[in-house]
Amino acid sequence: MTTSIVIFGASGDLTRRKLVPALFSLYCKGRLPDDVRIVGFARRPYDDASFRELMQGGVKEFAEDRYTVAAWKDFEPMLHYVRGDLGNPQDFTTLDARLSELEGARADRLYYFSIAPRFYASTVEFLGECGMAREQGGYRRVIIEKPFGTDLTTAMALSEVVHGVFDESQVYRIDHYLGKETSQNILFSRFANTVFEPLWNRNYIDHVQITVAESVDVGHRAGFYDGTGVLRDMFQNHLLQLVMLVAMESPASFNADAVRNEKTKVLSAVRTIGPEQLALDTVRGQYRGYADTEGVEPGSETPTFAAIKLQIDNWRWQGVPFYLRSGKALSEKVSEILIQFREPPHMMFPLPPGARIRNNYLAICVQPDEGMHLRFEAKVPDTIAELRSVDMEFHYDDDFEGIAIPEAYERLLLDALQGDASLFARSDGIELSWKIIDPIIQGWNTPEAPPLEIYERGSWGPAGAGELTGRDGRSWIRGCGQL
Ligand code: BG6
Repeated sequence: MTTSIVIFGASGDLTRRKLVPALFSLYCKGRLPDDVRIVGFARRPYDDASFRELMQGGVKEFAEDRYTVAAWKDFEPMLHYVRGDLGNPQDFTTLDARLSELEGARADRLYYFSIAPRFYASTVEFLGECGMAREQGGYRRVIIEKPFGTDLTTAMALSEVVHGVFDESQVYRIDHYLGKETSQNILFSRFANTVFEPLWNRNYIDHVQITVAESVDVGHRAGFYDGTGVLRDMFQNHLLQLVMLVAMESPASFNADAVRNEKTKVLSAVRTIGPEQLALDTVRGQYRGYADTEGVEPGSETPTFAAIKLQIDNWRWQGVPFYLRSGKALSEKVSEILIQFREPPHMMFPLPPGARIRNNYLAICVQPDEGMHLRFEAKVPDTIAELRSVDMEFHYDDDFEGIAIPEAYERLLLDALQGDASLFARSDGIELSWKIIDPIIQGWNTPEAPPLEIYERGSWGPAGAGELTGRDGRSWIRGCGQL
């Protein structure tokens, strides 16, 4: 069987930086199906030759460690380009004809939407109208990039359009955080070991922190970002995915439905943040100078930083807050999850006056320096009872020397080609996540909203973020750096 990977929006950055380099790496590892073609579709006036040249530049830069002239020469003939307009159904017919010509016989097809979200619905509809979604002896699958809707209503409307053409089993909603090795490893750590899971509940865990910090600002994406903001850009998808992986129950098996059923249950147990809690449990910030950026509405109140306290109302997590924070133009780029354990119930060792025992924590370092840290207390040698925190570390670089961590897109593209949707979002999960985020976004447009705090570039965000944890007698902790 032959396979076509069709990239809609192929002249965009994502194709050059991520998708084609990931496909190239998969090819070099011998993981692509045997007879594959990658067909780019976009408006820009490329042909096969100029498209290949553009992609070669991307592969050289972003799959540098695999690039050799010989490998590229083998890979290059798989790339093709069809010029067309997403708004013109006739161009879909042209694309279909070109695909059939290239395929020669029955073929599997994977459609990748690397396009502006406003084109999602019409592209799905045109695929349906042109018969390009019909499975005639070969699968038809579609990968849809985030954002899937801008709120619950639009997400549901989009789902309806998508389900009018594709069955849910043909739809792969991508969240690249799920393709990161370290996100995947959360489930392996929890469910392939016995040391963590017995402690993984309200009896032993005090609270959970999730930090996804970026040092970059909105840059050239200002136009898009200003209408989006950090809650839609990062929380509705990436941060809530991490919450689900940390908080879910053990699925009976490692298949897409079992995993996603358990993940969805977490979201349905997240307590809605009502107007009375808004100013207490949410913080919104904007880095200084954002509102003067080209492409941003003057006086824009779009948040570039948020911190939120979530509660999960079930037996495992009752009373264990999940503090989430994410923002742009922060001091460094780091994503980590910190599981802070409770204090010992009784302290038998004499501590110096005013000293408190430091809680143990497990820090999952999503990126960079992927790994884990377990902090616990140890007796300082040659003292009567002096304690010091020590750190037990695992780093991919040390323990899996010689195995490079692949780009998230590599794994996700491969899974979609193989029909495994475990690492993709399902429509019910997407809708539930909007149900959590929508009331906050709406609330931030009311008098109950917390003030928009301006924070300095290169800082850790507004003071309010510290107050969010501080009110509960806690503080943000960087668990993945040095002690
Ligand atoms: C994207 C957001 O989904 O994730 C970007 O739209 C953000 O604003 C990016 O920069 C962060 O991804 P990563 O993998 O660099 O943490």
